[in-house]
Amino acid sequence: MCTDQHPENLTSETLTPAAEEQPLEERGSNRSHRPQSRRFVEFVTSGWGERPASTATRAPVADMAAARRSALSAQFPGTRLVVPAGSFKVRSNDTDFRFRPHAAFAHLTGLGTEQEPDAVLVLHPVPDGTGDDGSAHRAVLYMNPLAGRDTPEFFSDARYGEFWVGARPTLDEIATTTGITTAHLDDLRDALAKDVGAGGVQVLVVPESDEAVEEVVAQIRGEEATGEADARLAEALSELRLLKDAYEVEQMRLAVDATIAGFEKVVRALPRAVAHRRGERVIEGTFLGHAREEGNDVGYTTIAAAGDHATTLHWTDNDGLVRPGELVLVDAGVEVDSLYTADVTRTLPVDGTFTEVQRRVYQAVLDAADAGFEAAVPGARFRDVHDAAMRVLAARLEEWGLLPVSAEESLHPDNQHHRRWMVHGTSHHLGLDVHDCAQARAELYLDGVLQPGMVFTIEPGLYFKSDDLLVPAEYRGIGVRIEDDVLVTADGNENLSAALPRDPDAVEAWMAALREG
Ligand code: GLY
Ligand code: MN
Ligand code: MN
Repeated sequence: MCTDQHPENLTSETLTPAAEEQPLEERGSNRSHRPQSRRFVEFVTSGWGERPASTATRAPVADMAAARRSALSAQFPGTRLVVPAGSFKVRSNDTDFRFRPHAAFAHLTGLGTEQEPDAVLVLHPVPDGTGDDGSAHRAVLYMNPLAGRDTPEFFSDARYGEFWVGARPTLDEIATTTGITTAHLDDLRDALAKDVGAGGVQVLVVPESDEAVEEVVAQIRGEEATGEADARLAEALSELRLLKDAYEVEQMRLAVDATIAGFEKVVRALPRAVAHRRGERVIEGTFLGHAREEGNDVGYTTIAAAGDHATTLHWTDNDGLVRPGELVLVDAGVEVDSLYTADVTRTLPVDGTFTEVQRRVYQAVLDAADAGFEAAVPGARFRDVHDAAMRVLAARLEEWGLLPVSAEESLHPDNQHHRRWMVHGTSHHLGLDVHDCAQARAELYLDGVLQPGMVFTIEPGLYFKSDDLLVPAEYRGIGVRIEDDVLVTADGNENLSAALPRDPDAVEAWMAALREG
């Protein structure tokens, strides 16, 4: 497929110049065989029927997104806040990765899936109380609307053109869907620069969101690059997502349910995986196909790790054999169309039955997870969940004779020997990003107090590498992680992924039933 992105040449009647005359930057489009004559342009841009009437309606999330914007507004009176969706990322030459908006943009607009590459949400400061919903800001969403069929973009622009990627929404449609005032992206620069200057409006932009927009903001501020102050905005946007509202909890439930259905398909695919020279890919592909059918995508690259591969925490090569008698660790999550993702791990006996030593390790990890759940209650600290899980693992490792010190000594911050077999943390917040709220301050994250509405993972594990000389041979090559998604409630918590069996007997029964069915 040709993807000529030089529409400025379109009215030229001339042939492509000889290579030696052609500017270097235009080389690379020489494979295009699209006509460029004036007659063609007139012909291709005319004779099209009426567009269907808009079917856009206000999205159910619009009110929640407005409340989120108001909460942000209250923290930054007098400051212009710039929240880009981000742009395309090149995957190979002139083909891009599928577009996914920045989580902060999705959170504040409610827009999901592939809508609006390059769009920028701006919260313009206004006198307190005169903004949207009585806030101190007025939101405007700057975007590239659908181009007319009389423009070269219509048929020649492979990234944005209707011929190539389909009709994009109009300004009116997005305004209706989001409840946010919309404007053309061409108006962005002037809007960002308005009233900026000595003693004027301060502008903050989300760091690492959109290079081009960040550069414009830096120019307007008279700086080389965006800086320290922007980190404050990133922090506030992360912290705004620490508590999920009702819409978000509903989306998390959908993501988890779709993920559980994906795990069922993985179990059904295990015989095919065992027979395949790259059985781990069969697992990855099965889940990915399911995620695309039922949601937007996977929320992160699936880890399908059989045998010793499970001891590599982020094993995403997924090119190994899946052997009966071994365990396979599957860490996977469906991201639904609203972009919320689940993050679930199950470690399964490939042939449906745990061996005695596999079960012993598995039960230790399950007990650690259960201790984590007991600790995950309102008023406790986030780090208490990890500490509870570690106490169980250290005790079990001591019991098995693996620790060179007592469990109690190992748990001392100066020691931590048990962490040799679990170097990662037990929990992370979960939502629009798999590692959600990552820029939140430590006092609200690791040291934060748990509150109803928080959603995070509980995912202890034990990983004994095949060449670990400090463990008996029977443990080597066994890696187990059990990961569930938890919602903190007023009186404790709810395991959102509880419907996916985690007790070893229940896992075996579930696998047997799926294989028979
Ligand atoms: N799947 C990555 C994680 O569990 O954090
Ligand atoms: Mn996780
Ligand atoms: Mn995970």
